[in-house]
Amino acid sequence: MDRFRVGVIGCGRISAVYKSAFSAMLDSLDIVIAVDKVRERAEAFASAFPGCIASDDIEDLLRMNLDAVHVLTPHFLHRCHVEACLEAGFNVLTEKPIATTIADGESMIQTAERTGRQLGVIFQNRYIEGIQEARRLIGQGALGELRGAWSHLAWHRPPSYYQCDWKGSWEKEGGGVVIDQAIHSIDLVRYLMGCPVEEIQGHIGRRILTMIEVEDEADAAIRFSNGAVYVFSACNYFIENSPIRVCVEGEKGSVLLTESVVDIVLEGQKPYRIDPSLDPGDGHVRYWGNYHAVQIRDFYSRLRAGEKVPVDPRDALRTLAVVLGIYESGKNGEVPVRPGYI
Ligand SMILES: NC(=O)c1ccc[n+]([C@@H]2O[C@H](COP(=O)([O-])OP(=O)(O)OC[C@H]3O[C@@H](n4cnc5c(N)ncnc54)[C@H](O)[C@@H]3O)[C@@H](O)[C@H]2O)c1
Repeated sequence: MDRFRVGVIGCGRISAVYKSAFSAMLDSLDIVIAVDKVRERAEAFASAFPGCIASDDIEDLLRMNLDAVHVLTPHFLHRCHVEACLEAGFNVLTEKPIATTIADGESMIQTAERTGRQLGVIFQNRYIEGIQEARRLIGQGALGELRGAWSHLAWHRPPSYYQCDWKGSWEKEGGGVVIDQAIHSIDLVRYLMGCPVEEIQGHIGRRILTMIEVEDEADAAIRFSNGAVYVFSACNYFIENSPIRVCVEGEKGSVLLTESVVDIVLEGQKPYRIDPSLDPGDGHVRYWGNYHAVQIRDFYSRLRAGEKVPVDPRDALRTLAVVLGIYESGKNGEVPVRPGYI
């Protein structure tokens, strides 16, 4: 397939990242329809692509002949939008989290299997060059046995961030700082650790952003099947978006991500640093990073090659299971839980 006919559902904040990624791929993509329930948002997105139709009705998209659709809608709508597209015969790349419940995620995977279409989930930070190198080193055993991990996220979300019709609610956002922001850290640690999570002891709280229903802070001890314990902490009531940090430690070395930079220490070698090739702040909100474009390119090159598209929805569902495990344990008085999907 030389060219792909592409649709987008959801033209809110994150759609700016897709607009610039698509603009650099017009040699192989035709962006033919943009849908948002707020028509002006669809029109603003569509105006960047000659011939692109804007609509406030997903049915207009479902009637078209498309190769792929990007789902950028609120978390609780991912299942219905993804499944409608798969049923219509389109391949789908959806934003994280795959869904808000395991049952929804499983249903989406089954729909993809039954329709024979592909479903991928965005976890763009896996594509950071230093993370790719860390995964390669860990796979080769260069860090020895993995002993532990930690991640720390201290970000700033003002009350105005929650003044919309879905953020800040258990039903629609599915949680707060863990499912929306810190899910990326959890996904990276899982990606690097490379083995199942066996037990989670979590705590969640609402300390500063008291106008919302969901948590604004959380921490957890997450034990993997190799015995390594992952110390997780996150809040979104800090005064600024401080650089996210994720560290994995082995008996012979460690890798430390700070925003998009990775520092690698290996026994008997000079420590070294892998800088990102992309400017993380290039035209976008800095803490989103700039790796959506890389994953989107990978999505289309895999589709073209007839290979499985990234990120495997089963793997994305395992990351969601850790998020939900932190919630379950936190709500049950920090009682340790096993994740519901491994
Ligand atoms: N990967 C990342 O780093 C990253 C960063 C930000 C957001 N996201 C994800 O992107 C998704 C959207 O987040 P956002 O911040 O852009 O939210 P947003 O609220 O700004 O945008 C959502 C858009 O969907 C539209 N919408 C809602 N219901 C609809 C429907 N039934 N039909 C058509 N359109 C509908 C809304 O009008 C809105 O424009 C979420 O899944 C979020 O987690 C990912």
